[in-house]
Amino acid sequence: MSAQIISGTEIAKTIREELTREVAELKDLHGVVPGLVTILVGEDPASQSYVAAKNKTAKNLGIHSEQVTLPAETAEQDLLDLIHKYNSDPKINGILVQLPLPRHIDEAKILFAIDPEKDVDGFHPVNVGKMVLGEQCFLPCTPHGILELLQRTGVETSGAEVVIVGRSNIVGKPIANLMLQKRDSGNATVTLCHTRTKDMAFHTRRADILIVAAGVANMITADMVKAGVVVIDVGVNRIGVTDAGKAKLAGDVAFDEVKEIAAAITPVPGGVGPMTITMLMKNTVQAAKQQANIA
Ligand code: GUN
Repeated sequence: MSAQIISGTEIAKTIREELTREVAELKDLHGVVPGLVTILVGEDPASQSYVAAKNKTAKNLGIHSEQVTLPAETAEQDLLDLIHKYNSDPKINGILVQLPLPRHIDEAKILFAIDPEKDVDGFHPVNVGKMVLGEQCFLPCTPHGILELLQRTGVETSGAEVVIVGRSNIVGKPIANLMLQKRDSGNATVTLCHTRTKDMAFHTRRADILIVAAGVANMITADMVKAGVVVIDVGVNRIGVTDAGKAKLAGDVAFDEVKEIAAAITPVPGGVGPMTITMLMKNTVQAAKQQANIA
């Protein structure tokens, strides 16, 4: 039997409707308009399209949105100066520096410079530390989106064998951490696989919930999963160009064959991607409320 397709597009739409109402209420009752700035350094086409989507979504929700695009050769100090400027700009509640950055810029230094109160990506060490301790903080957008997808689809995570492929700071490490915590969409037994894992299929075949964020097109094939697994595919791989001249995308999971075995699966595109952007909006609204002392 073919799997249930978990539509991130539909779930994200529901959350955006909730956020649109919340943004309107913030303005009407408190005169507060959440503000987001996105900063892109360089001309990576994937990053350009992510940042454009983030700004468009913000505008659609009634969030004040500013977009700064800097040349690839921008000096690290100039980027730091820009971040300091936005740290003290009262119109801006959230600052997002799109990753990856050019190699001459120290990513850790840049993320550390963002005011933790405006760190809507949840990448600042203060927010990462709070997340690991299970304290209230900005959760990183992709892991947060995955938790919402699982929760709103009614997937039971408590006691489940969750296998994650990929150990990035943006997805693998934080989602592993969140899913083992004593919390909604948590309480799982977590295995984190990576490029040095000896027998990947041994682990993936044990998964009740398989989360793949490896950045390798179609690496998870049907023989690597068990029947009834729930599959969350975080991969967005550009594998060519469509007839319409758009980027042709593939996930990290061989969707057509795995969907015949899985109980539920996210598609690419239309799965995790729209959720990541939506969680950024949710964090921006949360930042605006915190900075205006609104509960
Ligand atoms: N690059 C890939 N994913 C992300 C993300 O969630 N935030 C930022 N800032 N950069 C990214």
